[in-house]
Amino acid sequence: MNIQSPTPMSVAFGLGTEPLSITPNISTEHFEQEREHVFAHSWLNLGREDQIPRPGDYFVRELDILRTSVIVVRGQDGVVRAFHNMCKHRGNKLVGPGREKGSVKGFACSFHGWTYNTKGELVIVPDEDQFFDFDKCANGMTPLATEVWEGLIFVNAAPRESLSDWLGEIQGQFDGYFSKGNHVASYEAKVRANWKVVLDAFVEAYHAPFLHGKNYPDALTGANNPLCHLPVVKLFPRHRMMSIESNPNPTLTRTEEILLKYVDGVFSAMVKPLDNDSLPPGVNPERIDNWAFDAYTIFPNFYLAPMRVFHFVTYHFWPISSNETLWQTDHYVIPPSNAGERIALEFSKSFARDVQREDLITLENTQRMLESGVMSHMHLSDQEVCVRHGYKVIEQAITEGVK
Ligand code: FES
Ligand SMILES: [Fe+2]
Repeated sequence: MNIQSPTPMSVAFGLGTEPLSITPNISTEHFEQEREHVFAHSWLNLGREDQIPRPGDYFVRELDILRTSVIVVRGQDGVVRAFHNMCKHRGNKLVGPGREKGSVKGFACSFHGWTYNTKGELVIVPDEDQFFDFDKCANGMTPLATEVWEGLIFVNAAPRESLSDWLGEIQGQFDGYFSKGNHVASYEAKVRANWKVVLDAFVEAYHAPFLHGKNYPDALTGANNPLCHLPVVKLFPRHRMMSIESNPNPTLTRTEEILLKYVDGVFSAMVKPLDNDSLPPGVNPERIDNWAFDAYTIFPNFYLAPMRVFHFVTYHFWPISSNETLWQTDHYVIPPSNAGERIALEFSKSFARDVQREDLITLENTQRMLESGVMSHMHLSDQEVCVRHGYKVIEQAITEGVK
């Protein structure tokens, strides 16, 4: 072994050092266990409150992993709620394709006209007298538990604890950081790979000098840290985070040089001065000087990445089947205040998209070869301790669930 820290993180965190089985990434049985014991009881982020600012605003999410479709709506009373997208008469989907977002006074079923208000209450049943012992109040839309943290909307189909307990050490660390900024970009891709194979590509920096070697040659890997070792890793009972260091003297393209000279907010602006005092405790928690960004994984499938110059990125890794995942990313920035910042923002968006495409490029090939049966285990370095932690937490959830 060539571990540079005196005590390997994998040992210090009690995660062991043995190779990990690849079965969780290829087994349909394991996928069903994750569905039943992990996702069915997890707080899942579906978006941000400002997507539905006015009473009656709603959006719909198809959640394959819960085998349901969910409507998230701000009621006429201003409260954000989530419901299964189902009419309680004979089960029709209330909001169909082509109406995934909008603003309504209520939801009317296209089959027989049952209508619900934005609080999910059943208010109109045509020819109601023809039903038997029927109680409208008992037939509202079926809710999911819904809570908001940092402006982020979480739902849980079968909660065992509050969102606050679920977030644990993480809540209270961000002072509204993730409520700030405007949404400026979304990208998504359906990837033929297990959701953990996709997520794992974002929770280690070992790949940075290789996979991103051309697009992002040395922004994260200067002479002081050529293999992008992680300066900070924090593992919580379910969640995890790592801080990534920047190279204080990166090679800049001519475009980056010009943009950095005139404007803030560039994705690659790792060399901009850092004002640690302005950051909440959870952002750059160890206050490292060359901080580039943090990568928080909120168990099981949500990822938050605050960056050195205010800008944060979210990822969602939505399982579809044991070897299919919907990957989504969203970018939030302070709105540009002049033409230069606007140009910098557009540059940053396309630059980030290219780097993210690199992150996805190996995954389908990886899945195909994992499914070949040639390899049974994977060796993880100490720099991949967040990958190791992810598998451990899932196995714990399954084991506890099947007790
Ligand atoms: S299924 Fe919705 S009104 Fe009949
Ligand atoms: Fe990457």
